[in-house]
Amino acid sequence: MIDDVIKVAKEAGNIVKEGFGSNLRIEYKSNESNLVTQIDKASEKFITDFIRKKYPAHGILAEESGILKNSSEYFWVVDPLDGTTNFAHGLPIFSISIGLQKNGKTIIGVVFDVMQNILYSAEVGSGAFANSKKIDVNSNDKLAHSVLATGFPYNISENPENAIEKFKAFLLKSRAVRRLGSAAIDFCYVAKGVYDGFWEVYLHPWDICAGKLIVEEAGGLVTDFDGNEIDIYSKKVLACNGLIHNSMLEILKNN
Ligand code: IPD
Ligand code: CA
Ligand code: CA
Repeated sequence: MIDDVIKVAKEAGNIVKEGFGSNLRIEYKSNESNLVTQIDKASEKFITDFIRKKYPAHGILAEESGILKNSSEYFWVVDPLDGTTNFAHGLPIFSISIGLQKNGKTIIGVVFDVMQNILYSAEVGSGAFANSKKIDVNSNDKLAHSVLATGFPYNISENPENAIEKFKAFLLKSRAVRRLGSAAIDFCYVAKGVYDGFWEVYLHPWDICAGKLIVEEAGGLVTDFDGNEIDIYSKKVLACNGLIHNSMLEILKNN
């Protein structure tokens, strides 16, 4: 099935690429920072139509439509455009993220970095790849030598758990902290050893599903802020190379 996931992610990528820089119809979701465009919707329709046609019995959770079909056996988790704010503002950093679960466990993860034309993929037990080249997390064990990434929830102004203090603490203890605006790409940069670690609060299942497997298959570790295993519904996500895990947990616990 991985070939199908890759195919549909790339084709959705073409829709998104063509839409980049075009005349966008922007609507607001929960507030004026949380945007959706006709391209998010077109990408989602393309992906979900493909799944429904080829795998009519499979469950689907897609960001803009919610649960289209529930099934415990095979369950697709789709972010049709991760990085909509970047996309809508002309910043070429966004992706398509598709995870496939079997009996509640993610078995395939695919993230397509549209503008760099890099397809990240992982199948459980088989490693992680970027355009067919095997990728691994890096081997840095010092927080002070780390480049980290994070993001913030759309309700940052009213959410008391908006993680600004954590951001500040990591800024002071690491080499740099980046905020690119596509959580799925953030996971892949941990998997590829570009970032040493990534944390974020209030992500959604479609932000986490594919990226978590890609990091794990690249040899990394994904937990909550107490070091516990997480599923795709967790509201606290820490993904790293494993070696700086304890140092990151300490900052996350104390800030
Ligand atoms: C968002 C991006 C962003 C993260 C937000 C997500 P969207 O996804 O992944 O990096 O900080 O929390 O919601 O809305 O562009 O699909
Ligand atoms: Ca997203
Ligand atoms: Ca999205």
